[in-house]
Amino acid sequence: MRVHVADHPLVTHKLTVLRDRTTSSPTFRALTSELVTLLAYEATRSVRTVPVVIDTPVARTEGVAIADPKPIVVPILRAGLGMLEGMTTLLPSAEVGFLGMVRDEETLEPAVYAERLPADLHDRQCFVIDPMLATGGSLIAAIEYLFDRGAVDVTAVCLLAAPEGLEAVERATAGREVTVVLGALDERLNERGYIVPGLGDAGDRLYGTV
Ligand code: URA
Repeated sequence: MRVHVADHPLVTHKLTVLRDRTTSSPTFRALTSELVTLLAYEATRSVRTVPVVIDTPVARTEGVAIADPKPIVVPILRAGLGMLEGMTTLLPSAEVGFLGMVRDEETLEPAVYAERLPADLHDRQCFVIDPMLATGGSLIAAIEYLFDRGAVDVTAVCLLAAPEGLEAVERATAGREVTVVLGALDERLNERGYIVPGLGDAGDRLYGTV
C-alpha cells in the first residue's frame, strides 16, 4: 500500500480551520471542498491517460486525454458526499458511484447497505472518498467490495487518519494496488473511536447535526 500524507502549508492551514470547533458548517463544507481538490491533485497522479493529437491555433501537437474506461469516484455515505464536489471539480469526466456502509448488529462488521455502482468494474481505477479513516472498518469493506467487482486499483482520499486505521487497511489489503492519500496522519483513536486531535464527527459538522 502506498501512503501519501500531504505536506503543504495550504493543506495544513485549511485543516487547522476545519479542526477548530467554532468553524461553522458552511465554512466547513467550503473548506472540505477546497482540501479535497488539493488532495485530488495528488491522488490522480497515476490516472491513466492516452496520447491524443490536437491542433492549437499555431501548430499540431501531442497531449493526453483521460483513458477509457473513465475513473470512478465512490463517496462512502454519508460524510463522503461532502468530498464529492471537490473531487469532481478536478476529475469532471469521472463516473460517480455510491456506497452506504452500516455496521452489522450481529457480526459487528461493516456491511454495504446501499450501492449504486456499475455492475462491472473490470479495469476501472476507483477513488474512494471518506473524510475520516478511523478504525478502517468501512474503508476496508469498501475496498474489498470494489476489488470483488473487478476494480484494478483503488485510491482512498481521506482528510484525516488514525495510525491504527491506516495499519488495519494496510494489513487487510496486502498484495493489492491500494493508495491512501491523506491531509494529515493524526495521533490515535480514543476509546469512543474518534480520531485525536481530529475534528469531531465529520458528517455532523458537514451537515450541521450538532
Ligand atoms: N468518524 C468521524 O466522523 N470522526 C472521527 O473522529 C472518527 C470517525
